[in-house]
Amino acid sequence: MGNFDTLIFEKIDSIAYITLNRPKVLNAYNMRMRDELYQVLAAIREDTEVRVAVLKGAGDKAFCAGADLTEFLTAPSPTVARQVRWERDVWGLFLSCPRPLIAALHGYVLGSGIEIALCCDIRIASDDVQFGLPEVALGIIPAAGATQTLPRVVGTAKALEMMFLGGRIGANEALNIGLVNDVVSKNRLYPAVDDMARRISQFNPVAVASIKQAVIRGLDLSLSKGLALEKILSGTIVYSKS
Ligand code: COA
Repeated sequence: MGNFDTLIFEKIDSIAYITLNRPKVLNAYNMRMRDELYQVLAAIREDTEVRVAVLKGAGDKAFCAGADLTEFLTAPSPTVARQVRWERDVWGLFLSCPRPLIAALHGYVLGSGIEIALCCDIRIASDDVQFGLPEVALGIIPAAGATQTLPRVVGTAKALEMMFLGGRIGANEALNIGLVNDVVSKNRLYPAVDDMARRISQFNPVAVASIKQAVIRGLDLSLSKGLALEKILSGTIVYSKS
């Protein structure tokens, strides 16, 4: 795959690593990053060699400090800036990715940063992590999915508190409310994520993808429809083994 300005894309064995790579501006999410993420996610979707994808942020200070505010400020309004971002449905690609996505989170994870993390299936954080949705202070709402994804992960009350106040929460609180699966020391972050990715990648990829599909699609279904989906997927796996 080509060279990118805002990302590093690597494939090691069957694991894809996507690193948000604008460390001088704390990996702020700009249009270029949107386009490059779109390209990488579309490629991962097609690449059957990839069994798990890991997202991380370059530099010491942040996974991602949110939307690039310089683009926001040059657009006619934050709302227009948002509108332009929707022209490519990166978030739809994230959420429909059939393979497991693991976010390795350190430092600032703000705005679009937390929204990227929420599109992942598993979130592992280092103990210096700071999560927040500062949009309300800019007079806008989170619009890369967080109004829907955050309550599904941490519950309505906590999600609304985070969005109404725009404040930040640290590693312990994130773990307590279920925003992250685990917290590790900073030097253990990438080894811990690698270990998890490798363990998942050893299993039958059809089984892993079917588990993801059953759980994620099932969340939008009634229990009886979810159970019917589980039955169909389970039958597909038996068929694929014979
Ligand atoms: N967009 C564009 N540039 C950003 C950015 C963003 N969202 N977040 C940080 N940067 C840039 C800073 O402008 C600074 O650039 P400079 O060195 O050219 O001055 C560089 O990244 C380092 O950030 P700095 O503010 O100096 O680091 P800090 O440790 O003092 O503060 C934050 C870190 C995250 C608290 C602070 O940068 C911040 O509040 N950023 C904006 C967060 C935000 O509102 N995001 C948008 C959500 S919708």
